[in-house]
Amino acid sequence: MAEKLKIGLFGFGCVGQGLYHVLNNSTGFKASLECIVVKDKTKKRPIASELISYNKWDVLDNGDISVVVELIDDAEEAFEIVSEAMRRGKHVVTANKKMLALHLNELYALQNKFKVSLLYEAAACGSIPIIRTLEEYFDNEDLKRVTGIFNGTTNFILTQTINERISYPDALLLSQEKGFAESDPTNDVEGYDPKYKAVILALHAFGKIIDEDKVLNLGITTLQDEDIQYASEKGYKIKLMPVIERLDDDKFSVFVAPRFISKNSQLYNVDSEFNGVIVEGKFSGEQFLQGRGAGSLPTGAAVLSDVSALSYGYRYEFKKYAQSQHVEFTNEVMVEIYLRYNNPADLEMFDFKEINQKYTEEKYSYVVGTINLNELRTKRKYILDNKLFISLVSNKLTLIVKTPVVEKGVVEEKSKILIQ
Ligand SMILES: NC(=O)c1ccc[n+]([C@@H]2O[C@H](COP(=O)([O-])OP(=O)(O)OC[C@H]3O[C@@H](n4cnc5c(N)ncnc54)[C@H](OP(=O)(O)O)[C@@H]3O)[C@@H](O)[C@H]2O)c1
Repeated sequence: MAEKLKIGLFGFGCVGQGLYHVLNNSTGFKASLECIVVKDKTKKRPIASELISYNKWDVLDNGDISVVVELIDDAEEAFEIVSEAMRRGKHVVTANKKMLALHLNELYALQNKFKVSLLYEAAACGSIPIIRTLEEYFDNEDLKRVTGIFNGTTNFILTQTINERISYPDALLLSQEKGFAESDPTNDVEGYDPKYKAVILALHAFGKIIDEDKVLNLGITTLQDEDIQYASEKGYKIKLMPVIERLDDDKFSVFVAPRFISKNSQLYNVDSEFNGVIVEGKFSGEQFLQGRGAGSLPTGAAVLSDVSALSYGYRYEFKKYAQSQHVEFTNEVMVEIYLRYNNPADLEMFDFKEINQKYTEEKYSYVVGTINLNELRTKRKYILDNKLFISLVSNKLTLIVKTPVVEKGVVEEKSKILIQ
């Protein structure tokens, strides 16, 4: 019989209020909300003031509270709260992808040390149950790929640019007016948000905690009308897509970049603020999940599902973590990209291994070719500073294998490309 949990909640914004609503309107599951900690003393709250506190110790020091739900918008303060709660033997539910991606190692260790559960379904793709799908259903099957649309704000903007043919700045403005994009949209439009989610999912898909600093995130800030026209003429849509992909038995890669996708992709019709996730198993093939990736009630529902799971003692088992210690993250991968550039000097900056298409006119030049992902990563600043636009044109990734060769007593590295 499930025990009735006593909850301490941090944050009463979009998701906190969503959780409050779903908790009070769920028929099957009951939990008692003991205290809600917020920050701003001047804000009017739509709930009884007895529940509200401005002091985190009211929750952390309360021995009756066994579950902390962390829904604040400050990643470093969230880490302080979550780690202290775990040290005090409390289970934690959080939606904070940035905090998780930046501190997965410490949080993983704290769970084991203090024998508590940390659940975070809402942190990756909102209401889509992707973490538990990876943890429970795919706990033993080797995965080939997890990809999709993990960010609703950029998907809304990109949908407007392609479907309504409006420019990127206008689409961004519209998404801000509709409340999808924040006034500072950097996290979304530069691809940090989907990168954090990809780092979290990489742990559950491939069992590795990777340094988010090593993961390339290219966003959509440099998208111009010519790129939109190129995609439209070829019948493509542009989606910002994280890729978490196994390259061989020992290596996998993770990165975030725009991608042209055609009508035969499951993601082609995942438009506006919706998210979609594709999981490809070694034996089961492709699975596709679609749903709301953000928003008060969908995200609140994902948090409630985690709280409910705690009532029957659920915790992530991280089976892939134990199975995958030989697996390594790499950026040594060839990718096929479209690069729109301004002048020949831009193109000279990039060492393409192969160029399949080249188009040059006074105001619009592009190439389509294959290039090392690591090269894109090291040139990220140049790409942004010079407003170049990059989009993947296919989902073929090719691992570069470096084999040492001995020539005249000198050990050199020779690169060989393995086609999957
Ligand atoms: N919004 C979404 O759809 C969505 C989806 C998935 C995940 N998330 C994640 O969920 C978390 C919350 O997002 P949100 O959209 O609900 O944010 P939000 O609407 O901006 O609300 C943030 C809340 O956190 C409180 N807060 C900030 N610093 C605090 C502190 N030091 N101590 C106590 N309370 C503090 C704020 O207090 P005041 O009310 O006093 O200002 C506010 O209630 C974030 O990590 C976000 O990435 C959001």
